[in-house]
Amino acid sequence: MTLYPFGMFDSIEYIGSNEMDDLILRAAAILAKAKYAVALTGAGTSTESGIPDFRGPKGVWTMNPDAERQAYRSYDRFLSDPKQWWMERLTGTSMISGLEKALPNPGHLALAELERVGVLKSVITQNIDGLHEKAGNKHLLEYHGSVNKLRCTSCNARFPRDAFDVAKLQREDKLPPLCPQCGGVVKTDSVAFGEPIPPDVARNSMVEAWRCDCMLICGTSAVVYPFASLPRIARQKEGVTIIEVNAVPTPLTEEGISDFIIRGKTGEILPRIVAEIKNSKSIPF
Ligand code: APR
Repeated sequence: MTLYPFGMFDSIEYIGSNEMDDLILRAAAILAKAKYAVALTGAGTSTESGIPDFRGPKGVWTMNPDAERQAYRSYDRFLSDPKQWWMERLTGTSMISGLEKALPNPGHLALAELERVGVLKSVITQNIDGLHEKAGNKHLLEYHGSVNKLRCTSCNARFPRDAFDVAKLQREDKLPPLCPQCGGVVKTDSVAFGEPIPPDVARNSMVEAWRCDCMLICGTSAVVYPFASLPRIARQKEGVTIIEVNAVPTPLTEEGISDFIIRGKTGEILPRIVAEIKNSKSIPF
């Protein structure tokens, strides 16, 4: 995972309500007609669930640049000493503690409803908070992993977070936890900076980006790769419409990768798109 610097705007700019209405109607019409629509999401979709994003005005990295520097060193520390890495996890304070208490907001619920009625074929998220799963999305690709899971770094097997009694392993001086299938070292499923994206998720996400005829991109600054390459893959094909729903423009907007952006909050805009599709009666709900 690599970061490309891009100046961030620091205010949510609302567009005129008529223009917003028009764009929401346009997005609803395109999604209702799409044969294979997919959604891509980032931390912006979870801010209305009380989870800060990373690069917005109150983002985790914006507020604490040192934490970002620390995060850049995490994977190297894991590779050099997985036992110590786990010890730090068990004793230190974690940035992600409390995520499991968060609840989906209307934006998450709207995306789950769009999948339930067949408009969305999949959701590919950078978020590790598990809120899309909680909202009911089934065909979900967690590109940066999930706080609810552990993963073998050799065979890629996933395990529920409490599958290993790590406190007991620590007492018995048997950290790190080892994979029961291949004996590989197990780590948290969340993908650290510099860590390769798990091959199954990377491959399936690429396939979805190739297959889609509509891509709905929600709440991401689109500056982190390789995730940010997915819209560019979709852009290479004929007849694809790429729609952004984000508080501020992104490189996808600036470079014309997206066809249009609806600027505002995902928790407000996505439910309105669902409502317009319902009104159109073109999709049975
Ligand atoms: N509705 C719409 N957009 C929002 C909202 C909201 N409620 N809240 C914030 N935003 C916008 C911000 O303005 C910003 O453009 O969402 C974007 C979030 O961008 P980032 O904070 O960069 O988050 P993300 O794109 O998901 O980051 C990618 O970087 O740090 C790593 O692993 C981390 O998965 C993460 C990756």
